[in-house]
Amino acid sequence: MALEIQEGVDLTPLNTFGVPAKARALVIVHSVEEALVLAEKHKEWGPYFFLGGGSNILFTRDVEETLVKVEIPGREVVDDGPDGTYVEAGAGEEWHPFVAWTLSKGFPGLENLALIPGTVGGAPVQNIGAYGLELKDRFHSVEVLDVKEGTLKRLFSPDLRFGYRHSLFKEEGAKHLLILRVGVFLPKPWVPVLEYPDLRKALASTDDPTAEDIFSAVMAIRRHKLPDPAATGNAGSFFKNPVVDEAVYQDLLKEHPGLPGYAAGEGKVKLSAAWIIDRLGWKGKTLGRAGVAPTHALVLVNVGGATGQEILELALRIREDVERAFGIRLEFEPTIY
Ligand code: EPU
Repeated sequence: MALEIQEGVDLTPLNTFGVPAKARALVIVHSVEEALVLAEKHKEWGPYFFLGGGSNILFTRDVEETLVKVEIPGREVVDDGPDGTYVEAGAGEEWHPFVAWTLSKGFPGLENLALIPGTVGGAPVQNIGAYGLELKDRFHSVEVLDVKEGTLKRLFSPDLRFGYRHSLFKEEGAKHLLILRVGVFLPKPWVPVLEYPDLRKALASTDDPTAEDIFSAVMAIRRHKLPDPAATGNAGSFFKNPVVDEAVYQDLLKEHPGLPGYAAGEGKVKLSAAWIIDRLGWKGKTLGRAGVAPTHALVLVNVGGATGQEILELALRIREDVERAFGIRLEFEPTIY
């Protein structure tokens, strides 16, 4: 099977920040068979760098590795049993239409994860999460290709070491695993997830909200708060919410009353990075052509024509400021290339 290598490809349309970068070589993979060719050619073409929907990456330079984009399509209800429904999709499917499709088929369970940009294949990489639900709560398995060994493998939840915006795929040792298909399990009976305060508020006047009600409410909240990457370049939250010891939180509260903190298990508290950044006056500010979204302090935006370096510079300035004022070092959420 011939796989086409494109050379000197402009990556501006392939990342939601819309920053310029070039790929020395780009290969688009449309099927499992084509993916297997990557393994055959590994010595010649590798090392590879895998790109999904480009919605969680900041390019600050050109890509030297051979860039691989998976565009494997397909959505399938594999098994609909009494305890739940097992659904699989190709890694190249867009995440949000996949969620909408499961709902339209009568299989609720992913509605809290509406409108998250990116692909199905990208979802497990950072364990996407929003409005009280994370992918790991509905995850079943992934089919991956080990491009070094040339073998197909199925990995399950425990293999993936899911955490807050984390999985095995973020670790150095797993950079040779290419995600081809993702399976989710949607349990029966369906139970709505309504713990998130904003969501609860939005549905306060709706009795017994359905999955469609939650889906619509999540979309409305997101559209209100988060800039649409199609209009304004961004990658969602640029920083992770820091997780600290309860004692640290109590000390911070004395100095910064009102700092939101959410129980994160084992005596830990997850702080609101957006609140901290907002408090320091960064919301809506710009530095050159990079900015902080006026609607959400956690989202960095490309104001128009920014480079990845400019956005990174703004992120570093914010990180420094937060460390100075709160003694906390924020972690970046997107991959910085
Ligand atoms: N807040 C501010 N200023 C702001 C925005 C928020 O003070 O400009 C405070 C408010 O007190 C608000 C609290 O921060 O109640 C939390 O804000 P929000 O509900 O928007 O949640 P978040 O913690 O900022 C996280 C995720 C989002 C996800 C939402 C909803 C991370 C890094 N981000 O944001 O995920 O959509 O919760 O679950 O965990 C993403 O990862 O790209 C992303 C958008």
